Amino acid sequence: MRRPTTIGTIEPKRTRAARVGRERRELDRFESLVVELSAAMARAPADAVDREIESWLGNICQALGLDRSAVYERDAPGEPVRTTHTWLRANSPPFPRHYDPGKFFPKTADWIMAGNHLMFSRPSDIPVELADVRRFVERYGPKASAAIPMWAGGKVIGAATFGKFRSPREWSPELLDHLALAVRLFGSAIERKQSVTAMRAARAELRTASRRNLMSELVASLSHEINQPLGAILSNLGGLARLLTKGNPQPAMALEAVNNAIEDTNRAAEIVRRIRFMFKKHVEHKTAIDIGALVNEVVKLTAGEAAVRKISVQIEVSPSVDRVIGDSIELQQCVLNLLMNAFDAIAEAKSDRRGVTIKVAPEKTGWVGVSVSDSGAGVDPAVANRLFEPFVTTKSEGMGLGLLVTRSIVESHGGAIWSTPNPDRGATFTFTLPVAEGKRASASRSAG
Ligand SMILES: Nc1ncnc2c1ncn2[C@@H]1O[C@H](COP(=O)(O)OP(=O)(O)OP(=O)(O)O)[C@@H](O)[C@H]1O
Ligand SMILES: [Mg+2]
Repeated sequence: MRRPTTIGTIEPKRTRAARVGRERRELDRFESLVVELSAAMARAPADAVDREIESWLGNICQALGLDRSAVYERDAPGEPVRTTHTWLRANSPPFPRHYDPGKFFPKTADWIMAGNHLMFSRPSDIPVELADVRRFVERYGPKASAAIPMWAGGKVIGAATFGKFRSPREWSPELLDHLALAVRLFGSAIERKQSVTAMRAARAELRTASRRNLMSELVASLSHEINQPLGAILSNLGGLARLLTKGNPQPAMALEAVNNAIEDTNRAAEIVRRIRFMFKKHVEHKTAIDIGALVNEVVKLTAGEAAVRKISVQIEVSPSVDRVIGDSIELQQCVLNLLMNAFDAIAEAKSDRRGVTIKVAPEKTGWVGVSVSDSGAGVDPAVANRLFEPFVTTKSEGMGLGLLVTRSIVESHGGAIWSTPNPDRGATFTFTLPVAEGKRASASRSAG
């Protein structure tokens, strides 16, 4: 960073000692403020960075007796410099309307964005080469100001200005160093916020892409799946028509044909319903969820089914589990799908051990795992590699969509799902969900 261009001022000797003492005390106070600022910026979650910066612009101005401050950002070289954060002392002149430094003093804005400091203790100090900012100052009136480039990741991503309107003021090199550090701290926080935002956008894009892939995968097998019941319906109705044209329909046969057709129609309708559930524009409503309570609810909902099948369901929720971020309807669907598969596996195995255990426990930092273990016969090796593909099923009544839907929901929450064979018997299906953001941030804070 280049040394500031400060223009010396002439000062009577007798006031010098008093000024130096005042400056020293101000500098000491400001130094501790910057330490606090540094801690606050490190602590601030990405979503709170803008709010923090605005409040710290205020703290800095109050500590240094300044009246107005702003932060400017530029997305890339050549892009316009935008005013992104401001602070104004009550009764101070507001910023001009539509205030963007690139418009008001383009030459000086470029000069600052090239990494130069500009500060003046009185307007007459402004170098003549920077005539545009001189005109701005004459018109809009700060008596003293410091403009400091904002560095992050080895480049200038913006700048910050600190102005005083009531009277001129001096800017000692130490004070400027401290201000530059504060601005650099803003820069790194903004950079962190931008990378979190970019990551979120990339993740959303990935999610859309994976849904698109899922869609083409589904469409390919869907026509086959739907054509099967449609073909069966057609042949049943064709048979019925033949019976009717003979004029001597056998009621029992006709009834069977109609019943088969109804069953097949239902099956086709069910396939369509579930596919629509997966792709319908469900407005996701993600909130912080007590996942243990959600599991309990689903188990209660299926108590009747469990009783009929003589299966006992045990729930173990680790007390250290945090709330997760998710859409409760979708997550209920996931637990329900896994629980139904566990019931089916036990029923299929005709096992005398008829228990399902659902465990909710912390996974790696920031994640919660939900696992459903059954005492069935385990996953059939014939489908083990294709469990999450559409229409893969070993059940006569199955549709082979449950695990696909579950995986699509879990992944849209940022989590993962997998299955493992149990050491004794049966299978365990586990999925992970992110803990609510606030808690995650504080967890990493205490760890750091
Ligand atoms: N707990 C389990 N134990 C053993 N095999 C399982 C288990 N869960 C799933 N599977 C196997 O994975 C296959 C696919 O499961 P999935 O839930 O996707 O479809 P399904 O249960 O067959 O039908 P549905 O669409 O009605 O859920 C099942 O048919 C079964 O073979
Ligand atoms: Mg299933």
